[in-house]
Amino acid sequence: MEGFVLCITGASGSVYGYRALQELAKSCRVDVIVSEAGRLVMEEELGKGPEDLKREFPQAVFHDERDLTAPVSSGSVLSAYRAVLVMPCSMSTLASVATGVNSNLIHRVCEVALKERIRTVLLVREMPYSRVHIENMLRVTEAGALVVPASPAFYHRPKSLEDMVNFVVGRVFDLIGVPHALYNRWKGGGRG
Ligand SMILES: Cc1cc2nc3c(=O)[nH]c(=O)nc-3n(C[C@H](O)[C@H](O)[C@H](O)COP(=O)(O)O)c2cc1C
Repeated sequence: MEGFVLCITGASGSVYGYRALQELAKSCRVDVIVSEAGRLVMEEELGKGPEDLKREFPQAVFHDERDLTAPVSSGSVLSAYRAVLVMPCSMSTLASVATGVNSNLIHRVCEVALKERIRTVLLVREMPYSRVHIENMLRVTEAGALVVPASPAFYHRPKSLEDMVNFVVGRVFDLIGVPHALYNRWKGGGRG
């Protein structure tokens, strides 16, 4: 069974992580780590927190962000996983990944993923970006991560918030090779 680590941090857009979990948990092993700020933002934005996710997705494996002894903190375990997703990724977590400073399990998992050459996707969200943010994005990109802006497109003519979320999650799935039907791919100009 394919394995993924899904990290939800305190940037706006916890719905992206939630939607990814809904899809991945159908057929894959998913290890979930929600940062403390991620919990606060999720409660604000979705009206639910990690305890609700545990009830909703009993098949997923949840880790406390403070648990640096979790199996996924080790390269020998993480190397069997397909990808590490940070959805959404705060500028604070981005900075930790860029500098290799581990204050929680999310930072450690990203560090291990980069050294083990495991697909690492950081779905960043902030507006506007400072020079520090941009430099950190360059650093993690040079280290092998994929920096993906949480920016929905409009060419597929979204009709709802769900369509916009599905587009972003679908593009992340494209990058990690997960088949999906979350959005209609561009078929060229003209709609006839
Ligand atoms: C409602 C709310 C929305 C936030 N949105 C963002 C955001 O979009 N991007 C960001 O980088 N930080 C955002 N923050 C700040 C982060 O939560 C904060 O920097 C936190 O320390 C991140 O910690 P973490 O990376 O461990 O989750 C937001 C905070 C709150 C309370």
